[in-house]
Amino acid sequence: MAILFGYLLLCFLVSAGFFIVFRASRSRRLRLPPGGLGLPFVGETLQLIAAYKTENPEPFIDERVNRYGPIFTTHVFGEPTVFSTDPETNRFILQNEGKLFEGSYPGSISNLLGKHSLVLMKGSLHKRMHSLTMSFGNSTIIRDHLLVDIDRLVRFTMDSWTDRILLMEEAKKITFDLTVKQLMSYDPGEWTESLRKEYVLVIEGFFSIPLPIFSPTYRRAIKARTKVAEALSLVVRQRRAKYEAGERKNDMLGALLAGEDNFSDEQIVDFLLALLVAGYETTSTIMTLAVKFLTETPLALAQLKEEHDGIRAKKSEAEALQWSDYKSMPFTQCVVNETLRVANIISGVFRRASTDIHIKGYTIPKGWKVFASFRAVHLDHEHFKDARSFNPWRWQNNSGAGSPGYVFTPFGGGTRLCPGYELARVMLSVFLHHMVTRFSWVPTEEDKLVFFPTTRTQKRYPIKVQRRDIFSQIKSKTRDQS
Ligand code: HEM
Repeated sequence: MAILFGYLLLCFLVSAGFFIVFRASRSRRLRLPPGGLGLPFVGETLQLIAAYKTENPEPFIDERVNRYGPIFTTHVFGEPTVFSTDPETNRFILQNEGKLFEGSYPGSISNLLGKHSLVLMKGSLHKRMHSLTMSFGNSTIIRDHLLVDIDRLVRFTMDSWTDRILLMEEAKKITFDLTVKQLMSYDPGEWTESLRKEYVLVIEGFFSIPLPIFSPTYRRAIKARTKVAEALSLVVRQRRAKYEAGERKNDMLGALLAGEDNFSDEQIVDFLLALLVAGYETTSTIMTLAVKFLTETPLALAQLKEEHDGIRAKKSEAEALQWSDYKSMPFTQCVVNETLRVANIISGVFRRASTDIHIKGYTIPKGWKVFASFRAVHLDHEHFKDARSFNPWRWQNNSGAGSPGYVFTPFGGGTRLCPGYELARVMLSVFLHHMVTRFSWVPTEEDKLVFFPTTRTQKRYPIKVQRRDIFSQIKSKTRDQS
């Protein structure tokens, strides 16, 4: 036993020695961005996770930027990785997707999303499908078709609110129902709710080790993925039969069935499944965090209420918001921008270098991972004054970002620019409208923000809501003024 242990220790020391010598000589040859690769094998992963599990993960990046500059090398999640906190380099990375860089996702994501999902597509197919997805979330479609559904479905969920709610859960219901409606014209009901429950399990699997033997979460996620795919396959089969009989529907599934690519059921299911995931966590988290930040900034909340009370005062209680109403919410857009900036749901994107890449005097070796950190730029005092506080007024007169270009990129950029960016902004604005005009609220517990594995509040933001009678409040305000 002692001999075996000694042998294993020797092997470990030899490979660690090789690792360090190889690293040093290669970095001299290639002029890698400066940095530390941490321990053999684990690198600096544990430091990164520990930082992002707190309310203030900034020191992980701040310390390295102070020591090495805005582009540095580290070793996380099993691989050496170049971190960029420089907007110009981030722009270069995003603009060269598919040329010098390729999207890079962990194995768990590709197994759970399916190989035909948009995030995993490449080349000309990706280009076509990205623009098809964009065309289902652009302003014309939202104005002419989706806005009325968004308004109705936000109210539908809010109608059931009494006393104490978990805001994050409610926001998730709203975004899921909206996306199902947009993709395949289903209204919320038992079917959508049971589909959503399986979805939650699939998403949990993204952040687990993708080995069924070791991870029960991953096993559960794979099973849930199968159930979701079966449910969606049934919908696709039924819709295909109706399509062949001449029935047309103006939704994403209709466009996929009508397209020239003759997609199989499996391809369509993967595509829909991934779209449901992409908008679900992101938009619902932004809704929750906007409410949290506003609650902690009473002046901003008061100004937002005034803006929305003004819009509602010109309408009856049940009247839906129009596109012109959405376009007359300037302060709301400041709140949306500032929430996206401070919360950074997608803190950045991973890519893999397809060739040796020379940038800013350094070489990123072929095959290495790079991480374009949006978060680091959004929270950099050089680009945003007093960058780490929530200040929606900084966006007034479009003056939020101190420098042009790729400084504010919550939705990414280049060929993988988020196709749901406009939709997310409208959903959030409509949600805030009904939230502030119909309710007042107080948080029932202190709830902390954490950033790993996803940005979220630890307790799903429990609040106690009370209905506002806005119409009698407006009447008495007008009486007081006269
Ligand atoms: C606040 C909400 C949202 C944020 C912050 C957000 C952010 C992002 C970011 C940063 C990317 C780029 C990823 C990369 O370059 O690898 C992305 C991609 C994507 N987003 Fe969003 N997103 C949001 C909402 C939505 C919604 C509502 C949908 C659709 C209904 C959506 C669908 C997608 C899809 C399909 C992609 C992949 C695009 C591709 O790979 O070509 N997102 N999103």
